[in-house]
Amino acid sequence: MPVHPILAGRWSARGYDATATISAEHLGDILEAGRWAPTGGGNQPVRFVVGVRGDDTFDGLVDGLKRGNQSWAPAAAALILLCTADVPDEPKMQDYATLDVGLAASQMITQAQVDGWNAHPMGGFRAEAMIERFAIPPGRRPLLVVAIGRLSDPTSLRPEIAERDSRERTRLPLHQVAFSDSWGSSYTSEP
Ligand SMILES: Cc1cc2nc3c(=O)[nH]c(=O)nc-3n(C[C@H](O)[C@H](O)[C@H](O)COP(=O)(O)O)c2cc1C
Repeated sequence: MPVHPILAGRWSARGYDATATISAEHLGDILEAGRWAPTGGGNQPVRFVVGVRGDDTFDGLVDGLKRGNQSWAPAAAALILLCTADVPDEPKMQDYATLDVGLAASQMITQAQVDGWNAHPMGGFRAEAMIERFAIPPGRRPLLVVAIGRLSDPTSLRPEIAERDSRERTRLPLHQVAFSDSWGSSYTSEP
């Protein structure tokens, strides 16, 4: 893959080491990476709820996850809930606010990778539970949880987690997703 090794090395793992702890410095780096992400119109709608394994916020975030994610995410060193603005009457602004979370998450995931962590985004959580637990006010929308974890020795993992993490990762080929001239006409870098 001809992309930067930091990007090529990123993947969404589940097999985390439940004893690994993250330093305040590394967690701060990851939050700063999110804070400095671009936002539509410079509106800065993204907010973070940060839990470190062992604290009440982390437990609250785990409680709000869907069951499938609860099977592996408690071994993360930190969980970060990303919220954005809720602007139901302004579809364009809602699009921007939603995109802003994606960009913040992408920068956070990349920064985590730079610092030697794996980061795994999750949409599988109960928004109502998060709103209630963290007193998220009207006008704010929880959109994504990012787990930050240290990869565990694969031989120490539960078999279902090890199997999931060993699955081949694939993507649609570039010619199916990149077009020029008209939709469906594959982009090619060759003249
Ligand atoms: C918006 C979004 C929601 C996701 N939700 C979940 C989730 O709830 N649980 C989970 O295990 N992975 C979740 N993922 C991770 C994807 O399954 C994963 O990125 C995808 O399968 C590609 O694998 P890769 O990240 O290893 O390249 C989510 C990713 C995104 C971007």
